[in-house]
Amino acid sequence: MHAITGTSIAEAARYLREGQCVAIPTETVYGLAANALDPAAVTQIFSIKNRPTFNPLIVHVQHFGEFEKYAREVPAMIKTLAGHFSPGPLTFVLPKKETVPDIVTAGGDTVALRIPAHPLTLELLKSLPFPLAAPSANPFGYISPVTALHVEQQLGEKIPYILDGGPCSVGVESTVITVEDGKVIVLRLGGVAVEAIEQLAGKVELRINQSSNPQSPGQLKSHYAPKHPLFLGDIASALGAHPDKKIGVLSFTKKYTHPAIAQQVQLSTAGDVNEAARFLFAGLRYLDSSEIDLILAEKLPEVGLGRAVNDRLERAAAGV
Ligand code: TXA
Ligand code: MG
Repeated sequence: MHAITGTSIAEAARYLREGQCVAIPTETVYGLAANALDPAAVTQIFSIKNRPTFNPLIVHVQHFGEFEKYAREVPAMIKTLAGHFSPGPLTFVLPKKETVPDIVTAGGDTVALRIPAHPLTLELLKSLPFPLAAPSANPFGYISPVTALHVEQQLGEKIPYILDGGPCSVGVESTVITVEDGKVIVLRLGGVAVEAIEQLAGKVELRINQSSNPQSPGQLKSHYAPKHPLFLGDIASALGAHPDKKIGVLSFTKKYTHPAIAQQVQLSTAGDVNEAARFLFAGLRYLDSSEIDLILAEKLPEVGLGRAVNDRLERAAAGV
């Protein structure tokens, strides 16, 4: 099998109805989708990605009215937040109904629901009689894909179709939240800034799991890992510490000058954290495929999507 990359919603829908996996575009990253109500189809997601089955998947639905089909209860705060941020990069963890197969939720009692903000995928969801379970469309532990070509390069031999929706506009995965006693808990930093949620919900609690064997895959300490070692810190001082190495630099705004620099990516010369998020994974992939020995990266300011970018960089560096 080799994937066809195209823009046919009908073609993507045909494979999905047959119980096969298809790559789909979202505003955050590309997803590897299957019929969320078909355990055999969902099982293929785990084997194609080489993903441990203790990691639950996000279920993508077309509109808020679908939530009650899969969630036992939908707190008022979730309704408020969905009304404001959905479709968009916000995922809601809710008590699950029996309609959701256990393999989707890793046997847990909750289900993660999201309405993605991509016109092709919303159209696709409308044409299907089932929701789509979809993790990011990368081999487990590697950098998430933000173009159809990224998916093709890594999963092209394992899936029949890649629905090409162009480059992802947000560039980091969705923010994952839940609500306990009316209070919002952030489980994963992502495409909706914590500050934006707090404007509607008041102070949130951050419960970002750092352990290496958690319930949540994006929360594994070492994740988003490039093949080359990545060091996160002060680039200027780190440059002098590796005199015999070919270095790839991933900076926020600055251009660094040093004879050891073989490749350099500036995420946003204008200092825009949203732009930096959009280019993060493509920049990391570019450096990782270059003739270098190691990557030096620096943190963004801890504001807006800068926090999600920093979270991904820390996990990318954790393998070292
Ligand atoms: O932006 C995104 O969320 C992308 C696109 C494709 O929608 N999807 C994505 O899926 O990032 P994945 O599988 O790579 O990450 C799923 C995240 C996990 O990190 C986990 O924290 C959370 O969703 N998750 C899923 N089900 C959960 C549950 N029942 N309880 C807590 N967290 C859950
Ligand atoms: Mg992922």
